[in-house]
Amino acid sequence: MEATSKDTRGSFAAKKTPATPKGLLNIAVRAARAAGEIINRNFEDRDHITVQEKAKDDLVTNVDRECENAIKGVISRYYPEHGILAEESGSSKNTADSDYLWVIDPLDGTTNFCKGIPHIAVSIGVKIKGITSVGVVYDPIRNELFTATKGEGAILNNRKIRVSNIKGLDTGIFATAFPCRNREHLEHYQKILARVFSRCADIRRAGTASLDLAYVAAGRMDGYFELCLKPWDFCAGELLVREAGGVVTDFEGKPDYAKNGNIVAANPYAIQNLLREIKAAG
Ligand code: IPD
Ligand code: CA
Ligand code: CA
Repeated sequence: MEATSKDTRGSFAAKKTPATPKGLLNIAVRAARAAGEIINRNFEDRDHITVQEKAKDDLVTNVDRECENAIKGVISRYYPEHGILAEESGSSKNTADSDYLWVIDPLDGTTNFCKGIPHIAVSIGVKIKGITSVGVVYDPIRNELFTATKGEGAILNNRKIRVSNIKGLDTGIFATAFPCRNREHLEHYQKILARVFSRCADIRRAGTASLDLAYVAAGRMDGYFELCLKPWDFCAGELLVREAGGVVTDFEGKPDYAKNGNIVAANPYAIQNLLREIKAAG
């Protein structure tokens, strides 16, 4: 497991870790746990948290940045030539030259974190030649590690997970998010919400997109829809859903969510019913 070895000076140095999906997953987990430790430490002892507003209703803290640096530090130690797209620092210089792109949300659920709501995650996805191949979503407070490798299924703490098997919406519990940073879409969103809510059992807005997707993968939620997501919000989570037997589309039922940021996720039956309501809202 350990990807380090002692060098001739007696210090620990990175051993060349192959960029296989297994090697990438190992390093992604290591990076996510490093960030998780930082989150847990600061969540308990809140005196050192400083908050800034990046944009209206869009917060960032020193802990988001510390986590991002820790994650990038682990990645560049093992894979210095890989590209990185991270929420707080943007794209690394070599993203165009590398076949590998690490897509990082160092602290997903910053508003929850700032309010002391224990529902937060670290999200790390790895794309190989543009195809998401590894995904890690780590909830450090519950110590729940969701992982997926393309073609190998999705796992929560060593146990395989599957999406739920509901077909209609009536018994379903769905995750969503209000478009608080994109209020120009509120009217459209309200129509969608009204249609879905009138046909399902209930709806949750928990505040951490990567966990919304991970919970769909684990069958805890029967589906999820949100507007205007960013790549780091969904990169790892969408692989979890697909590897757990689910489907991810945009609001038109197309695979264009990477372009428009509008995401719907559910099992292959429920997503048809969910999309019918979303499309009917106009
Ligand atoms: C946000 C959270 C939230 C979702 C937003 C995201 P952040 O991410 O995942 O649940 O509704 O769309 O931007 O800013 O906390 O990393
Ligand atoms: Ca996020
Ligand atoms: Ca974030």
